[in-house]
Amino acid sequence: SRSSTQQSSAADLLVVANRLPVDQVVEADGSTSWRPSPGGLVSALAPVMRRNQGAWIGWPGNAGEEMEPFEEDGLTLVPVALSEEEVAEFYEGFSNDTLWPLYHDLAAKPSFHREWWDSYVRVNQRFADAAAANAAEGATVWVQDYQLQLVPAMLRELRPDLRIGFYLHIPFPPAELFSQLPWRRQILEGLLGADLVGFQLSGAAQNFVRLVRQRVGHKTHRDTVYLPDGRVVRARAFPISIDTEGFEELAASEEVQARAAEIRRDLGNPRTLFLGIDRLDYTKGIHARLRAFSELIADGHLDVEDAVFVQVATPSRERVDQYRQLRDDIDQLVGRVNGDLGRIGRPAISYLHSSFPREEMAALYRAADVMVVTPFRDGMNLVAKEYVACRLDGDGALVLSEFAGAADELRQAYLVNPYDINGMKATMLEASRAQPKEVARRMRAMRKTVSEHDVSHWASTFLTSLAGDPESHTKQTHP
Ligand code: F6P
Repeated sequence: SRSSTQQSSAADLLVVANRLPVDQVVEADGSTSWRPSPGGLVSALAPVMRRNQGAWIGWPGNAGEEMEPFEEDGLTLVPVALSEEEVAEFYEGFSNDTLWPLYHDLAAKPSFHREWWDSYVRVNQRFADAAAANAAEGATVWVQDYQLQLVPAMLRELRPDLRIGFYLHIPFPPAELFSQLPWRRQILEGLLGADLVGFQLSGAAQNFVRLVRQRVGHKTHRDTVYLPDGRVVRARAFPISIDTEGFEELAASEEVQARAAEIRRDLGNPRTLFLGIDRLDYTKGIHARLRAFSELIADGHLDVEDAVFVQVATPSRERVDQYRQLRDDIDQLVGRVNGDLGRIGRPAISYLHSSFPREEMAALYRAADVMVVTPFRDGMNLVAKEYVACRLDGDGALVLSEFAGAADELRQAYLVNPYDINGMKATMLEASRAQPKEVARRMRAMRKTVSEHDVSHWASTFLTSLAGDPESHTKQTHP
């Protein structure tokens, strides 16, 4: 039952993700180069897959022609090409203007367009075909995230011999929201092609099982779905994490330490450096957090002579309207705040619309006294964990939204409701004025969590769970 697609390589472990770990960039002169892809998914999975010498199937990040598989840093990369139209309809449209806002508590209004759905189906089929063509007999295929929810069932149809896992990096919404989706049943059936469906939090796994019972009518018990053909599918939580050791080593390096000191110096050695680092996304709560900070200055609780907020916003999905609008809103807010409250050489907010290499991020984490992570909804938020990993001296305060998945594990953070501006103001102030002993007590507990549960723990727990459960192994069908 091999697919008819030509077999180009035969890997035992494959990741299928919307993005490759590297993006192709086309320069003005037409030459091309590669740079690391944005986002938490790639930064989490890349170290795991390099260690396992697996194959990675994904999109090179721009519209283009088909490309041959190639090797990069111990990994086989298999590019899946998308046309201009598919980038607009599958990626910017259905993935990021329908599913993204719907799965993030309607942080923006999702658009429903039938042509976008058709494109989503076609592109998911292309990823499934590529996975089928590159997997060895009995291989394990690990499908990633909301862009590819139909791939598990499509792949099982082509290759019933495979062990198929699926992991959702973003929240899975409650039934009341998910049910708006005109294609809700197809999505659920797509995911049920996997043997194991992983989520960040157990609440998300429960949402999924409940929807399967209600909308597809399968029998379920706790984390298990019983299909009419005897196959079982499990839905469980596997909170994702970071390469903790990698970040600790980076933060310990002399270059990073020197750079951290230089950053503080360049900012005029403020008493309190607040830091935000996010993709420029409306789910991240950047606007509300900067407003809270600026009000603390306007109210006289903080002074630009000794406090500054450094906000890094990584460009993201720039052709989607709501992202454009957000960029304008933040530009306007930062301009107004600095115009009204800044002094010469002392802006209230130091705003960087740019992406930086890991070294610079580690230096920023080391330089910051208070890290402010306030999404309205976030699957996990790895920035919060990276900050903790980089605080080698055990100091530094983390202000964290209770609506980030990370809040379930990092209980000792200064937790906030990002919709409550006054609450955020009070907590940011509390975090910046807390006794060093109190800050250290909280940080110590969080450092323990992040060092015990790193990304390789996450991956091995998922893969062990996928390999185990012998009674749930795929029924072999002999055509
Ligand atoms: O972690 C969630 C996620 O949407 C990933 O699937 C994605 O690769 C990353 O954020 C960055 O977004 P994008 O790939 O759209 O640039």
